Amino acid sequence: MTTQYHPTARYTSATAPGALPLLGHAPAFVRRPFGFIAGLAAHGDLVRLRLGPLDAYVACHPDLVHRLLTEDHTYHKGGVVIDKAREAFGNGLATCPAADHRRQRRMLQPAFHRDRLPGYAAMMAEEIAGTTAHWRDGHVIDVPAAMYRLTTAVTARCLFAAHERAGSLPVHECMDVVTRGVARRIMLPIPGADRIPTPGNRRFRRAERNLREITKRLISDYRAAGTDRDDLLSMLLGALDENGTVLSDTEVHDQVVTFLLAGTETTAATLSWAWTLLAANPAIRDRLHAELDTVLDGRPARYEDLPALPLTARIVSETLRLYPVSWVLSRTVAADAELGGHRIPAGATILFSPYLLHRRADLFPCPDRFDPDRWLTTARPAPGTYVPFGLGARRCIGEAFATTEAALAIATVAARWTVTPTPGRPVRPARGSSMSPRPFTATLTRRAR
Ligand code: HEM
Repeated sequence: MTTQYHPTARYTSATAPGALPLLGHAPAFVRRPFGFIAGLAAHGDLVRLRLGPLDAYVACHPDLVHRLLTEDHTYHKGGVVIDKAREAFGNGLATCPAADHRRQRRMLQPAFHRDRLPGYAAMMAEEIAGTTAHWRDGHVIDVPAAMYRLTTAVTARCLFAAHERAGSLPVHECMDVVTRGVARRIMLPIPGADRIPTPGNRRFRRAERNLREITKRLISDYRAAGTDRDDLLSMLLGALDENGTVLSDTEVHDQVVTFLLAGTETTAATLSWAWTLLAANPAIRDRLHAELDTVLDGRPARYEDLPALPLTARIVSETLRLYPVSWVLSRTVAADAELGGHRIPAGATILFSPYLLHRRADLFPCPDRFDPDRWLTTARPAPGTYVPFGLGARRCIGEAFATTEAALAIATVAARWTVTPTPGRPVRPARGSSMSPRPFTATLTRRAR
């Protein structure tokens, strides 16, 4: 299948069947969110939906998704969810409107430059080894919680690396409350419900205040010391816009919270899914173990090992294909537009779903099969087909950071442990805006080599 967008080509358009009066497709979407979204591609390239009062289009064809994400002057990141997210965690890179985005992205891009990765990876390796050091043979762990602890430790360390007090500050604790509280707030159906003084809301406000206090102190300490500590906070403090202006303390704080939120749950969910997929596919797990035994011989993985661990990298890519954590995303149309030969009115919402694209049999043969070897080909997937990190100007800034972290974690853990989910209950995705697994447990078995 070619996936080159031709402006003159016509793409099919339809309204999804089964809309109910008033509620539209909302009940079907809520009942089976993933199956519902994946099924839309059968109706057309651009499918119209009604979710209660919201009229939306879903771009199901990769060409249309490519155009949606690369023509960012027409299609903006915005809408209700982004507005709520901005209210909850500030005007950082992930939530800022188009008008602020170019400046922010330019200022932050150097922090994620490839040259910085080896430094971050060294910190990641230490944190991965540290968080798994207390694991014991036969222990049963709550997998998503353990992976979340691991990725929180990594992100906190890469943000505030060398600060001698970072370890003694309750950063992890605040992050946990803030991250989960923000996710809940984005989903809240009743306006103002986040201001009711419930114990949960009070805990959230306290954690948010503490996190702000901690970052404020770290910022003033870092500014006073004036040295680059090779971490993300140093990069944020050193970032200059085209007028030579630095970020204000509030802007730095918003970016810190953005990185914590965008970078922890996402990578933790990817790792959790990887353990379930490996357990369900023992032949691939055996090959992974063989790769790790040859290269690592039981020691933790380092950045320099990654080129010698191609199967590990393919397992990360394939996990993100089957379980793209950001499984449905949206854009709003700035002015009347045309997409695939169809008129879209200004203000309309257009959704796209990496999950839908990644499960299309015409793009990925046997799409439900976990097959890391499908990535053996050197040909890159056609534009718009494989988009776990999005595309275009708003593409994930942390992509290389996340894939490096995931590869190091899988390699370090699988070199020493077999992770076997407790049998009897299939692991399912939780309902929500991120495709995280529901809580599940697994037994750790120390590998004999
Ligand atoms: C497996 C892990 C991750 C996945 C699947 C993921 C996915 C994504 C996706 C799909 C987007 C684009 C959203 C859109 O177009 O509407 C995005 C944006 C973003 N991600 Fe990630 N992400 C991951 C890890 C990270 C990490 C580790 C960080 C930072 C440390 C990060 C920071 C961001 C930021 C700041 C944005 C907004 C970029 C912009 O608008 O310019 N992400 N991510």
